Amino acid sequence: MKKKFVILLTLCLVVHLAWADDGYRLWLKYDLLPNAALREQYKRQINTIETASNDPIIQTAARELQAGVQGLLGKNITIHAAKGEKSALVLAVNPTDKALQGLADDGFVIVQRKQQWLITAKTANGVLYGSFALLRQLKVGEAFKQTSYSESPKIRLRMLNHWDNPLGTIERGYAGSSLWKWYELPEVIDPRYIDYARANASIGINAVVLNNVNASARFLTKEYLVKVKALADVFRPYGIKVFLSLNFASPKILDKIPSSDPLDNRVVEWWKNKTDEIYSIIPDFGGYLVKANSEGEPGPQDYGRTHADGANMLASALAPHKGLVIWRAFVYAADPKGDRFKEAYKDFKPLDGKFASNALVQVKNGPIDFQSREPFHPLFGNMPQTPLAMEFQLTQEYLGFSTNWVFEAPLFKECLESDTYAKGKGSTVAKVIDGSLDNHALSAMAGVANTGSDRNWTGHTMAQANWYAFGRLAWNYDLTSAQIAEEWIKQSLTQQPQAVAVIAELMLKSREIYVDFTTPLGLHHVMGQNIHFGAEPWLEKSARPDWTAIYYHRADSVGLGFDRTSKGSNALSLYAPEVQQLWGNPQSCPLPYLLWFHHVPWTQKLSTGNTLWDEFSSRYYKGVASVAWMQSQWEQTKPYIDQAIFSDVKGRLAVQHREALNWRDACVLYFQQYAKKPIPKPYEKPTRTLDELKKIVEIYQLK
Ligand code: GCU
Repeated sequence: MKKKFVILLTLCLVVHLAWADDGYRLWLKYDLLPNAALREQYKRQINTIETASNDPIIQTAARELQAGVQGLLGKNITIHAAKGEKSALVLAVNPTDKALQGLADDGFVIVQRKQQWLITAKTANGVLYGSFALLRQLKVGEAFKQTSYSESPKIRLRMLNHWDNPLGTIERGYAGSSLWKWYELPEVIDPRYIDYARANASIGINAVVLNNVNASARFLTKEYLVKVKALADVFRPYGIKVFLSLNFASPKILDKIPSSDPLDNRVVEWWKNKTDEIYSIIPDFGGYLVKANSEGEPGPQDYGRTHADGANMLASALAPHKGLVIWRAFVYAADPKGDRFKEAYKDFKPLDGKFASNALVQVKNGPIDFQSREPFHPLFGNMPQTPLAMEFQLTQEYLGFSTNWVFEAPLFKECLESDTYAKGKGSTVAKVIDGSLDNHALSAMAGVANTGSDRNWTGHTMAQANWYAFGRLAWNYDLTSAQIAEEWIKQSLTQQPQAVAVIAELMLKSREIYVDFTTPLGLHHVMGQNIHFGAEPWLEKSARPDWTAIYYHRADSVGLGFDRTSKGSNALSLYAPEVQQLWGNPQSCPLPYLLWFHHVPWTQKLSTGNTLWDEFSSRYYKGVASVAWMQSQWEQTKPYIDQAIFSDVKGRLAVQHREALNWRDACVLYFQQYAKKPIPKPYEKPTRTLDELKKIVEIYQLK
């Protein structure tokens, strides 16, 4: 029997090695561990899996461990009821276990007791996360190093926001079409839904919003709710709750109620009934995500009501079911003389303390819109009486789609580690979000998903790391970008030390390189209009003034950048005095934020010793050279990486290099018209003209 199993396993391995890796398995690869000694050690430690519970989540955990142990160790193991066998891996929920004291509900301990290893937690979810943690440790050779190991998540709701539409398209999606096949649901369950849930659970994600924030009302119809239920049923055993984005005008759209005024009783009644209906179909439904009075979406302001009025009406419909309303703060009025930076603050700050207890306000990391670098949003630290949820964007809307390699962990961490000084030094954005600064029980972090129907889920294989990093940071924002990169590489690509080091370095530098060849020194929002791809700094007219490029860069013969000091829009005044001091002086403002807050003369000397023009234009050249460096570094990984992945990434890097050249030439030539200075030595003048570059961007825009 044993012999047969070994033959079968060897066969599977041979077949597997002959196949190219298509990236489908993400970081959940359970291939035989290459280190035989380690394998033998682990085999002795895990003989069998025991669980006393029939809870579907515990069963998921047990099955995943079984698959993992069998694959990684090449050892056939069974799952059975608890009987105290030696070297059993025991899964148990035990809220009163002393080892769990002080841990959050989803926290866990992996502890050695009586010649057994026990994974225990206060909840089944906790046991699931503990099981995935053990699998991660097994994969990277870090398992069973301590007799008691524990983790506890810092954020309660760790969620993906899908911007998926009913017809299968994804707003700002660059990895194929939607994973959700609405026309096949509920009868057909694509097995991919399960792998999606596994991937999320493995990094602690416990909630998903299925549909676009620009929401179709049809998701609230009976016909769609049964489809949503089918997905909720698949995700439940993985500890994942389902939420929906809603269209605020649904009462009008679906049932011809003459109004959607949140203070109109007919509307209140409609939402109450609709919410009750949803819970009768999906009893553990998570709640609603709402984009209202933003970019043309309907909302309470259409009736002279506030965002809080709208949120609270929904909150009271959800409260009996313990549901949550997550209300987005992404709002901005079109004012050519104003500063979009300040808009959300203006609407939301006065509402602090006015939201119901089951409402959260979801704020994008920065005040504009997911640029490659933004200062933290001024609402963080300024709404102490309201739990604020973080919204990051995993999909690379402004980061070169899936043709550019940008590891986002440093971007996320930069924001989370920013100090708001709301309650003195150390009042970081992370502490606002996790609820600890202002004592909120609710806490949430959302990532706008970068997944799609592409075989490797994210288009660019390296973008899988952004999904991974988001989950890991929502769980524990103290992890470093380097730790996350290394974990991800070792589980997804290779464990060869030299290759791990090369890829990690590329990942860690990738975001700064992207900033350099697109928007250095705090330049922002100069990308191609509508599609948000490529450079279009010359954009002067758009449907709204704050969708143009000139609104933001303000280039003139004197200098470059948006003056947000008291002499300009005074957006800086929205921050604590310490932050104002940090960013308020153009001489001492850190260079990454310089043009966010100052209109700087082209001739001004910067801390680098260069003038603004020389530094600014050099960054573009350095950025392009860095992409070439990425290409040559990647070549070094060839012997250690699956060849299909190697070639695909190589191709994407070549695209990135072409695009970096376009960005460089377009921006350098365009801004040179204002600076009227030569390209600094030793760099060569672009060989293309500005008109030629404008044509390239136009082609991308052609309908
Ligand atoms: C950006 C994005 C839109 C999206 C919006 C939002 O503006 O371009 O596609 O709908 O953000 O976050 O609501």
